[in-house]
Amino acid sequence: MSDFAIRLAAENDLEAIRDIYNYYVRTSTCTYQIELDTAEERRAWFRERSAKHPATVAEADGVVIGWAALSPWKSRCGYAWAAEASVYIHHAHHRRGLGKALLLDLIERAKAAGLHTIIGGASSDQSASLALQVALGFIPIGTFREVGRKFDRWLDVTYTQLLLKPEN
Ligand SMILES: CC(C)(COP(=O)(O)OP(=O)(O)OC[C@H]1O[C@@H](n2cnc3c(N)ncnc32)[C@H](O)[C@@H]1OP(=O)(O)O)[C@@H](O)C(=O)NCCC(=O)NCCS
Repeated sequence: MSDFAIRLAAENDLEAIRDIYNYYVRTSTCTYQIELDTAEERRAWFRERSAKHPATVAEADGVVIGWAALSPWKSRCGYAWAAEASVYIHHAHHRRGLGKALLLDLIERAKAAGLHTIIGGASSDQSASLALQVALGFIPIGTFREVGRKFDRWLDVTYTQLLLKPEN
């Protein structure tokens, strides 16, 4: 799929971002959120975005069909050069190259912002997410056993990592 454009998210994208995300809150272990994301929570999330922790969208024909973001990995100052990536594609638009394009774009933005590493990861049953990360060079780091619970199941989480400047 090449008929889409990636740009920074704007405030009036938040409803579409929330709709894409809430589908997965309801149906999937790709997020461990259980209550639907509210408009106020999403606005608060948007206010925390910056050049270092951007939110981006993929848009086709004026419709947002995917989004991505970098968030702080941990809040302590010493972790300031590590960020965690999120990518969510509208469920009707999988396997068209959107996730790859959004994650590659995030990697470039992370480099430009001076970040050192991006943490990926997913519920271990989320093979699409982990395959996307590995396809873009993220290295599997390890799996925490049964740290999550959703849909009455204990869930393992597998983390991956991309070093942006391995020579440093
Ligand atoms: C994971 C997700 C972002 C992938 O996005 P996508 O646009 O469907 O993926 P792409 O078409 O860009 O795929 C790029 C590569 O990722 C891998 N991949 C993607 N989906 C896959 C799947 N279902 N099974 C195996 N590999 C997959 C493949 O290597 C693929 O390359 P290929 O198509 O040449 O084989 C998408 O499935 C999604 O939004 N899932 C729900 C949310 C989620 O899990 N987000 C990650 C949590 S942060």
